[in-house]
Amino acid sequence: MTIPHTIEAEYDLIFAGGGTAACLTAGRLATAFPALSILVLECGPTTKDKKEHIQPGQYITHLAPTSKTMQFNVGKPSEHVAGRSSIVPSARCVGGGSSVNFMMYNRPAASDFDAWETEFGNVGWSSKDLIPLLQKAETYEIDPKKSTHGSDGPLKVSFGSEISDLAKEFVEIGAKFEKNRPETDEGNALNVESINKFFIMPKWISKDGRRSDVPHAYIYNNPAKKLSVFDGTLVHRVIIEDGVAVGVEYQFDNRVHESAPQDIRVVKARKLVVVAAGAMSSPLILERSGLGAKDVLEKAGVTVVAELPGVGENYQDHTLTIAPYIADDKVKTLNPLWRGEPAAWGQALGEVGERWGGNNGSEVRFTQAPWTIKLTTHTPATSTDSSKCVPYPEELPELGPDFLEIWNSTLANNPDRPLFWMSTAAAMLGDLAALPKLNFMCSAALLGYPASRGRIHISSSDPLAAPDFEAGFLSSPADVAALRWAYKKGREINRRLPSFRGVFFPGHPQFPKGSAALVEETAPAIDLYIRQTVVTAWHSCGTCAMKPLDKGGVVDSKLNVYGVKKLKVVDMSIVPSNVNSNTYSTAITIGEKAAVIIAEELGGSV
Ligand SMILES: Cc1cc2nc3c(=O)[nH]c(=O)nc-3n(C[C@H](O)[C@H](O)[C@H](O)COP(=O)(O)OP(=O)(O)OC[C@H]3O[C@@H](n4cnc5c(N)ncnc54)[C@H](O)[C@@H]3O)c2cc1C
Ligand SMILES: *[C@@H]1O[C@H](CO)[C@@H](O)[C@H](O)[C@H]1NC(C)=O
Repeated sequence: MTIPHTIEAEYDLIFAGGGTAACLTAGRLATAFPALSILVLECGPTTKDKKEHIQPGQYITHLAPTSKTMQFNVGKPSEHVAGRSSIVPSARCVGGGSSVNFMMYNRPAASDFDAWETEFGNVGWSSKDLIPLLQKAETYEIDPKKSTHGSDGPLKVSFGSEISDLAKEFVEIGAKFEKNRPETDEGNALNVESINKFFIMPKWISKDGRRSDVPHAYIYNNPAKKLSVFDGTLVHRVIIEDGVAVGVEYQFDNRVHESAPQDIRVVKARKLVVVAAGAMSSPLILERSGLGAKDVLEKAGVTVVAELPGVGENYQDHTLTIAPYIADDKVKTLNPLWRGEPAAWGQALGEVGERWGGNNGSEVRFTQAPWTIKLTTHTPATSTDSSKCVPYPEELPELGPDFLEIWNSTLANNPDRPLFWMSTAAAMLGDLAALPKLNFMCSAALLGYPASRGRIHISSSDPLAAPDFEAGFLSSPADVAALRWAYKKGREINRRLPSFRGVFFPGHPQFPKGSAALVEETAPAIDLYIRQTVVTAWHSCGTCAMKPLDKGGVVDSKLNVYGVKKLKVVDMSIVPSNVNSNTYSTAITIGEKAAVIIAEELGGSV
């Protein structure tokens, strides 16, 4: 038995979960308060200097079924997705999503943030408050002088490297075909100017070819002596005494530290416990701590400490559809890499070995490293091209009456919001081993504001037990109507691309024989197809929502859990309503905001 980490009896702050928001908040606080002792407990492995967490091109490896950096959350089978179980992976490593995500640089609409203040009463969470914090985190290397972006934050943004031919084709042809949706070089200004445009989407990759993850930018390079980030430590629950969070129970995770003792341990917090285990896990930690709906806790055999019926409810994602097309053989795609072809990986990584040799990765220099360029050359090809698309009023009839649920509630009064974003990716995202060896491209559409909701709850007090998870995908017909429109749009654009060579029919709706492509005939086939194929966009949120308690809220606008003192939640679970973009930018914003809030409470500032 070896004890992997020396953990003291007591710290000032304890973070339960060491992902995106946790590492950011902890890093900021450690810098601002060097005397403060901060403990971050992360169940997954460290990512420090590991190539698969630094080199952009390797992200797809984290989704392999054997992955040790991902947790696969299995939803209950549902009729809404044709009887399938939706599987929603979430990150499981230091840095969380920031260390494994696809690095798509996408930002929400200003009105997404504003709604948190105006609709849910969270003073201090409007776009006016939050956009400066988002900017604080980033350096927009593409044009640091652009006023809507950041110029000296730790997380770098660039195009990654050269822009793939397919991305260029999509933007050019899309803008030509959709006459009222022109090209722009700025699709991320958080305003109406970014909507109904075609553009090349930047990446969370530095100009010199490194992933912009949080731990390498806020933690591993942080000289603070009293900041401890420990991997392979699984939090069971928060200990609450007389309504005050006083510490946590944890065990070493033998999926990371094989020979570590497996007893349950306690560490105390003097000032604050922050639950930051992500939208899939933070509600489970709260429930194991006795905070949740009475019936859920009783069924799992957990004593109720405070009744919070909203915990684990309000689950949201961005449902995604992926339609495969065949590209010209000459066009560069990621398929060989994603198929795991040794030659392709050899070529992409070949020069890495040389570069990596001799320094153990501890002092890797990335400037002018041709191999990173080579790797990132492949990366943008996955889908940097993009269109944030919302129907014009005259297009509404094309979407049908079901769609009005989304239109009325989120879009009609917010012109800066897209319904979905769409792109042509230079690969097929799916089980390539089961498909013929073709040069695939695919049309991906990601829904900004699904009307459907799911839930996630504990089934037992055992932290390793599978949760009771309903993804809820497509339970509202409005989502199907929106994705049907997106599918058709994608088909019209993709078949016009110069590199288009055909439709891969098995991956498309099976239209009735002899149907004349009339709307009444095609809609049922497309709808069934969407139900059979829709997947997660890996953007889980909303399960510990920051709203009033009587509206199903779990935390207040200072991120305090209702009914308990010295306990906060800091991650994507606090989002009361969805944001339309990929969620890394929002997780970062929440991390920066939490640092400001906690610093104020400590009597200082970050
Ligand atoms: C595969 C994938 C691709 C993505 N692609 C993009 C993209 O291209 N662009 C984009 O903007 N966004 C993307 N995202 C989304 C984005 O990365 C996430 O929304 C964001 O990182 C979530 O941050 P978080 O702090 O809420 O949670 P996380 O970063 O997930 O952190 C939660 C952490 O808590 C840990 N944890 C959980 N339970 C426990 C426990 N009991 N004890 C200890 N630790 C625990 C987890 O291991 C994890 O590390 C992607 C996400 C995934 C998973
Ligand atoms: C949407 O709004 C329109 C116009 O106000 C109304 O007629 C319609 O019933 C609403 N539909 C839904 C589903 O909310």
